[in-house]
Amino acid sequence: MRKVVLLAVVLAAASSGIAVSSRQPVRARHAMVATREHHATDVGLAVLKSGGNAIDAAVAIGFALSVTHPSAGNVGGGGFLLARFADGRTTFIDFRERAPQKASRDMYIGPDGKATKDSLVGYRASGVPGTVRGLEMAHKKYGRKPWSELIEPAVQLASQGFPLSYGDARSLRSKHTSERLSRFPESKRIFLNDGKYFEPGDRLQQPELARTLQRVRDMGAKDFYEGETASPLAADMQAHGGLITLNDLKNYKAMERKPLEGAYRGYAIITAPPPSSGGVGILQILGVLEGTGYEKSGAGSAAATHFMTEAMRRYFADRSEYMGDPDFYKVPVSALLNPKYIGHLRQSIDPEQATGSPKLHPGNLGAYESAETTHYSIVDADGNAVAVTYTLNDGYGSAVTAEKLGFLLNNEMDDFAAKPGEPNDYGLIQGEANAIQPRKTPLSSMTPAIVLRDGKLYLVLGSPGGPTIINTVLEVFVNVVDFGMNIADAVDAPRFHHQWMPDALYMETGFSPDTIALLKARGYTIKMVNAQGEVAAILSENGWLEGSADPRTEGTARGY
Ligand code: DON
Repeated sequence: MRKVVLLAVVLAAASSGIAVSSRQPVRARHAMVATREHHATDVGLAVLKSGGNAIDAAVAIGFALSVTHPSAGNVGGGGFLLARFADGRTTFIDFRERAPQKASRDMYIGPDGKATKDSLVGYRASGVPGTVRGLEMAHKKYGRKPWSELIEPAVQLASQGFPLSYGDARSLRSKHTSERLSRFPESKRIFLNDGKYFEPGDRLQQPELARTLQRVRDMGAKDFYEGETASPLAADMQAHGGLITLNDLKNYKAMERKPLEGAYRGYAIITAPPPSSGGVGILQILGVLEGTGYEKSGAGSAAATHFMTEAMRRYFADRSEYMGDPDFYKVPVSALLNPKYIGHLRQSIDPEQATGSPKLHPGNLGAYESAETTHYSIVDADGNAVAVTYTLNDGYGSAVTAEKLGFLLNNEMDDFAAKPGEPNDYGLIQGEANAIQPRKTPLSSMTPAIVLRDGKLYLVLGSPGGPTIINTVLEVFVNVVDFGMNIADAVDAPRFHHQWMPDALYMETGFSPDTIALLKARGYTIKMVNAQGEVAAILSENGWLEGSADPRTEGTARGY
């Protein structure tokens, strides 16, 4: 038996050209949770075991992560929740941040005509947070358990504290993070132990956050947006030149949108519509790939990577021009996914040579390596599936902790085109479609996705990583569907990213040097990176649920 398995692994490695090490997913019969942080996974699993549905678990995990994974878990940020219920209904809750009323097109352009750093750090970087309203909307419409029961574990984790993991302690004392957080006394006090720093295993207690969460537990989102959380938040903003007012908070609305749907080789894909650029992205890229036979060369081969990269490059060029908030700009979704247009994109690919991206401004991928958004996936015992990606944007957001409230604020305003045509923090070039306007939603790349096979739930997945999210989700999907990997191997396999500009192919360590050499010969500029994305995925097959948190993280998958 062992010999057979070993042989299969060797054969897979030989045909794929990547360093394959077969890892087993976590398997369970009834329900499964996969998140980035183990306390949050346990909170979600307990909700499911005690009769809560996947939406209940999503709410409880969302609040738990705001305590236990402060770089990305949040109440001061926003995100997307995608659900597919066992009866076939689907929904997409957009609780992304919106630009404050006082925001304006050129607010981040300095006197020298260049984009400033204000969209990245400090009070002016934040959009109006949406997480609390979004989770409440999901719960009111689709939840089963009492709201207060779902927030309670987060309250306990914040008031009693929890031991910081190796990764989180290390992240908090990293040069980049500690410099940013030190600039704001409240952030320094809470997250840097007042400058003394935390060691792995130290308890992080957050009494101010516990009180904020208690109010949300007892009074609902109304407290956060109109009550005892809203007032000090607006006052703190006003005192430090931030734009968010009491009115902005009061007017914040989460929105329920129709998910974007598409098909690939008989699989139905349900995913994020605009203001995410991710759903359109994976559907266009898959459309370009379908029928090319690219997969025959094997995962990790130069030929397959070439085709995928060229499809990615073409989509990101479109993204820079056509994607924005659909409530402010008519996003040409059907044109971008039109089979004729996709056919034209496919034909423009030279099967042997890289197509150089037209010369524009050189980008930089400064924040590329600090993947700090977070995704979690849930399937409950009834077969309801939920995929949530939410974020503060950069790790620890704007680095500002709201005075007396204990939570970090997002720097999501940087997802707008601060200066259309110039690269943002992710090196992304974006156009007028994504220029700043009051109350507008910044364009996102977050791509929660749910895949059906023969009309039945098959795969739930998503990832952080800014623009790399789109390609990460795509790659895990094709690793399963086209390359036949189990979900754990599909998540482990080395990943790559191209976003048109800058004209570089970013590859994780783990690819074969031969593949890299072949790609260079095809004309690619290759840049090696340590890690791309943090996937949390669940696959449903033959009556089993198979979960995989990303081995790039300290995440866990657990089921029963
Ligand atoms: O919505 C977006 O596309 C970004 N704010 C996501 C940021 C992210 O994934 C951070 N991780 N690198």
